[in-house]
Amino acid sequence: MTEMMKRWVLARRPNGFPVAEDFRLEEVPLPEPGEGEILVACSHLSLDPYMRGRMDDVASYTAPQELDKTMGGGGAGVVIASRSDKFREGDLAFGMFGWASHGVAPADQCRKLDPALPPSTSLGVLGMPGFTAWSGLEAYGRMAEGETLAVAAATGPVGSMVGQLAQRRGLRAVGIAGGAEKCALLSERFGFDAAVDHRAHRSVPEMREALAAACPDGIDIYFENVGGPVLGGVLPNMNLHGRIIVCGMIAWYSGESDETGAIPLQKVWRMALVKRLTIQGLLQTDHVARFRDFAAEVTPLVKEGKIAYLEDVSDGLETMPAAFFSMLKGGNTGKQVVKV
Ligand SMILES: NC(=O)c1ccc[n+]([C@@H]2O[C@H](COP(=O)([O-])OP(=O)(O)OC[C@H]3O[C@@H](n4cnc5c(N)ncnc54)[C@H](OP(=O)(O)O)[C@@H]3O)[C@@H](O)[C@H]2O)c1
Repeated sequence: MTEMMKRWVLARRPNGFPVAEDFRLEEVPLPEPGEGEILVACSHLSLDPYMRGRMDDVASYTAPQELDKTMGGGGAGVVIASRSDKFREGDLAFGMFGWASHGVAPADQCRKLDPALPPSTSLGVLGMPGFTAWSGLEAYGRMAEGETLAVAAATGPVGSMVGQLAQRRGLRAVGIAGGAEKCALLSERFGFDAAVDHRAHRSVPEMREALAAACPDGIDIYFENVGGPVLGGVLPNMNLHGRIIVCGMIAWYSGESDETGAIPLQKVWRMALVKRLTIQGLLQTDHVARFRDFAAEVTPLVKEGKIAYLEDVSDGLETMPAAFFSMLKGGNTGKQVVKV
């Protein structure tokens, strides 16, 4: 009998915020690995905000997700067949296996995982999101002791790493998160110096005031993850020669435009001039050559508990779309992972 696997495909392109009908769960025959490839039984799959952008058929830094094909994404699991010298059966591997119970990928595009660490860490703190934080700060932060850094989505895998790395370099880290519970985690779990709840300050003027109170010396580095009223509140608080690292803008990923008290573009542009701001787009893939440096620095810190991380694990491949919608709205606390 043919062995089967399960996978999610994109059935149609979302119109605004995605809904269940945009996806379809299928059973398909288990693929055979070709020369140089491995077959992996996935234990943990990653859900990431960038996946929403790939669902639209628009020009971007990567090709759109194809309809009726396995939803793309990272996953970790056990090698069950190998046609490569790099992996043996039983090894743990990370690769781009997609939203699926199993996946085949070229071995040289997969990473062998340390069995001493939970495989899920390869999706968050020690994977692409952690590396995004590290590479963005290394390449563009120009961090100096005593400066103030602000970051939103701060309990997530990118934001929590940004804050902790900045503090390790002697900066004051201010986290912005949604709700009192997440704000409490920022100080208690991740050791941020101050926290601002964006759900309690929904307009630009309210955010501006709340941030001014949390950042009495202004903001030198803003690691931009969200856009929306948070960005509007940050801009007037930026210091002379401030750096804005544009990593993401999740508040606008599904075409949202409601922005109470938005700052007109003319004012934003004038602020960039008057404050001599550096506004730098970040794409972690531009920096992959430095992934080994990141892993060498951060893996021991995670093992020793000197870098904290949180994971939000959804149980079962069937839960994948629902967990994705929840993450886009801030329902996740920590890296959103699905346990297959
Ligand atoms: N450029 C790159 O190479 C790159 C690579 C990886 C990730 N990213 C970007 O980095 C950002 C963070 O990614 P992540 O994986 O760490 O995500 P994450 O924090 O696990 O999840 C997204 C978080 O965004 C927050 N959020 C959602 N809607 C919001 C809104 N309207 N206003 C403010 N916050 C909102 C929510 O947190 P709260 O409940 O706290 O609001 C939610 O938990 C995303 O924008 C992502 O696209 C970019």
